[in-house]
Amino acid sequence: MDFLEIARARQSCRAYDEGRAVEPEKLEAVLEAARLSPSACNGQPYHFTVCRGQAAKDVAMACRGLGLNKFAVQAPVVIVVSEEPYVKSAAMGARVKGNDYRSIDIGIATAYLTAEAAAQGLSTCILGWLDDPKIREICGLTHPVRLVITLGYAKEGDVLRKKVRKDLGELVSYKE
Ligand SMILES: Cc1cc2nc3c(=O)[nH]c(=O)nc-3n(C[C@H](O)[C@H](O)[C@H](O)COP(=O)(O)O)c2cc1C
Repeated sequence: MDFLEIARARQSCRAYDEGRAVEPEKLEAVLEAARLSPSACNGQPYHFTVCRGQAAKDVAMACRGLGLNKFAVQAPVVIVVSEEPYVKSAAMGARVKGNDYRSIDIGIATAYLTAEAAAQGLSTCILGWLDDPKIREICGLTHPVRLVITLGYAKEGDVLRKKVRKDLGELVSYKE
């Protein structure tokens, strides 16, 4: 699969096959992709807590609310992405330039992770609706939880949806 094929295949999965475990080597590949992602000053200001079994269920429950994310309990693996402190140079850059590099870095790592999952035939959903204090308690984390990623195999019959995106003409402009 080339990258565009992966990008077309990846979609947010909200129906998982609860009976199908994620193979350890596939989980490792997905985490390795995140590890290889670029970050400001190579600071890698994130940590991935891989939750399975009861921990996965507990974290999934902490992502529910207002009718959202009920499906998350079906996922056999739930990855909690927490934010680590800046390295000195990135902290200085963020201060001087007024830019939030940590959120950008976490977004890139998450994109790598979910893209590799798609390449492995796995499905994911990135969850931003989450209860930070509760998940920190479940996972024993002291730093903020920024995202949760559900990971597993899609339920049979979960079809690839048409992508709804702005046109390139709206997203891109050229200047010379
Ligand atoms: C930062 C972020 C937070 C998100 N939070 C949620 C969420 O809490 N629940 C959910 O079902 N989807 C969530 N999504 C998934 C988006 O709704 C989804 O990526 C978008 O609608 C595009 O659809 P696609 O992923 O199927 O291509 C989130 C995505 C991102 C990038």
